[in-house]
Amino acid sequence: MYNSYDEAYKLSVENRDKFWGEAAEAVQWDKKWDKVLDDSRVPFYKWFPGGRMNTCYNALDYHVENGRGEQTAIIYDSPVTSTIQKITYRELLDEVSKCAGVLTSLGVKKGDRVITYMPMIPQAVTAILACARIGAIHSVVFGGFAPNELAIRIEDAKPKVVISASCGIEPRGPIPYKPLLDKAIDLSTHKPEKCIIFQRPQVTAPLIEGRDLDWHIVMKDASPVGCTTVAATDPLYILYTSGTTGVPKGVVRDNGGHAVALKWSMKYIYGVEPGDVYWAASDVGWVVGHSYIVYAPLLYGCTTVLYEGKPVGTPDPGAFWRVISQHNVKVLFTAPTAIRAIKKEDPDGNYLKNYDIPSLKYLFLAGERLDPDTYHWAGDLLHVPVVDHWWQTETGWPIAANCMGIEELPLKPGSPTKPVPGYNIQILDESGRELGPDKEGIIAVKLPLPPCCLTTLWQKDEHYVDSYLKEFEGYYVTGDGGFIDKDGYLFIMGRIDDVINVAGHRLSTGGMEEIISTHPDIAECAVVGVEDSLKGQVPVGFAVMKAGKDRKPEDVQKEVVGMIRSELGAIACLNRVCVIPRLPKTRSGKVLRSTIRKIADSKPYTIPSTIEDPEVLKEIDRALKDIGYAK
Ligand code: COA
Ligand code: AMP
Repeated sequence: MYNSYDEAYKLSVENRDKFWGEAAEAVQWDKKWDKVLDDSRVPFYKWFPGGRMNTCYNALDYHVENGRGEQTAIIYDSPVTSTIQKITYRELLDEVSKCAGVLTSLGVKKGDRVITYMPMIPQAVTAILACARIGAIHSVVFGGFAPNELAIRIEDAKPKVVISASCGIEPRGPIPYKPLLDKAIDLSTHKPEKCIIFQRPQVTAPLIEGRDLDWHIVMKDASPVGCTTVAATDPLYILYTSGTTGVPKGVVRDNGGHAVALKWSMKYIYGVEPGDVYWAASDVGWVVGHSYIVYAPLLYGCTTVLYEGKPVGTPDPGAFWRVISQHNVKVLFTAPTAIRAIKKEDPDGNYLKNYDIPSLKYLFLAGERLDPDTYHWAGDLLHVPVVDHWWQTETGWPIAANCMGIEELPLKPGSPTKPVPGYNIQILDESGRELGPDKEGIIAVKLPLPPCCLTTLWQKDEHYVDSYLKEFEGYYVTGDGGFIDKDGYLFIMGRIDDVINVAGHRLSTGGMEEIISTHPDIAECAVVGVEDSLKGQVPVGFAVMKAGKDRKPEDVQKEVVGMIRSELGAIACLNRVCVIPRLPKTRSGKVLRSTIRKIADSKPYTIPSTIEDPEVLKEIDRALKDIGYAK
């Protein structure tokens, strides 16, 4: 109900209370908020203090009570198991109520943590909503993470219960999850009291007596429980994301602000209506999965698609078009890398000829830079607007987008368009001065952040302030660099820290370096993200051997690749390691990662005046040429 984007945006920054107060009317409250925003403890802002509600009630019970009980809530489409299952809102509510009953019977109460480590199956959604139902704080760990990463999260979140499955299914076959979970619990000093395991027929897991429970058995005997009312400001979940070191950041999201912003976004950003079919082709382990597979579509009364498959190979590059056609998908949201994968295998889009997709209205892309080639290819093939939008785990919803439900602005390839209402985006120079149009700098958001953004890092208020708010007082620093052009369009030029994006997955090069440096023969190392035509970026490692360690480079490479796979997970995709005599450094000892990156990407670079020895760059260039970079 805004006349234009400009009107909505202006209202959101100039009359924040009115803007968000009106948006909050769409949510069902047990008790209305006392205030829209509490700014009495800056920088710890609180949205809707005094308000009480339940997120699961808003996502399920409310719809069943208001005539959506027989509507499909979830379409589970799993080409890897040849399954298509439709679950109505009423059925999902029954399952979630029983799962909440199981958790309650195990002593899980409001504020307790529950970790889920699950593949893309409906039970993953059930478990998440069951936690929300009883006010427990869920922390979903992506199934592709190795035991060590899971252990770090168990250690930090200290879950009372872990919910997992016997296996995930990748195109090359089932991946048993239970041994990974057992190893993670061994590694962690915190031990969950119980583990609930969903047994899948592809691989069943032996259960540990006294600790492990079979999902099917406990659910059979469970008594359903209702919703626990929580404060709008109570945490709904913790989601760990990569920072610049190996210690992930536990992003905390509240209940009230989260529901308000997500519900608003469905109408005004994605342009959908209740009852529409919405598909975020991501994974519940990532923020996109939390917000746009689970919460937003259900809060808004849509049908969400839960797809257990890949863009290609399950079985072919027509898979996405098949799903859209078969289920009448109105909006597809995925990462550019998925479209690049399809384009690579089917450059002429021949597979689309097998399907009619008149239902598709928009293709939304996020997670990494949308390159113009992919943008044009998708638009020409699908004949729908291709909407690049920019966001982060920390924000939980888009920071910049072309808001299709407000006003379709002209698109500029390479730009995620303009700030979403609620976000006061500024470009800062290194001293924190706001820069004018077309000037590249640090992208920051002027505080307060809008609802749904992180409220802190789990039990680390100080770390939250240090990581995001301390550098420039009054601003949240996004970690991305870019500029705003004279028409107000934002351009994201990439991360300004050691975070990289591999196939839309956010990873820390610092974290990988920490793992590699534990190799007994390696004296020092560096990891940089280099351009990749399919995955956007991939990490490349550089290792300097300890004196006297005369090892075959190919053996070292194999060992390092193995270390990263087993400590971090195969999703890191670190497949190339150069063994070099020394690293390029400044005289003060700082590794020149950005220069290495430019050499690898065959981009022009200037030799930094502070370099210790410029000859090293020639060695790097040679090493990179040997593995197919630096052309
Ligand atoms: N559980 C276990 N292992 C997993 C996993 C999971 N949930 N997800 C990925 N992996 C493994 C894969 O099996 C693969 O292992 P391998 O090297 O032993 O074969 C490795 O991690 C890398 O997987 P992936 O990133 O899927 O690479 P790929 O080369 O197999 O496929 C794409 C390339 C582009 C098709 C794929 O990366 C993709 O679908 N990307 C889209 C990602 C996305 O949606 N991101 C969400 C952001 S919105
Ligand atoms: P994640 O927290 O995993 O969602 O990753 C967030 C990071 O992904 C951002 O800080 C950006 O670096 C990158 N990113 C996400 N969306 C976009 C986009 N549309 N354009 C460019 N980069 C993006």
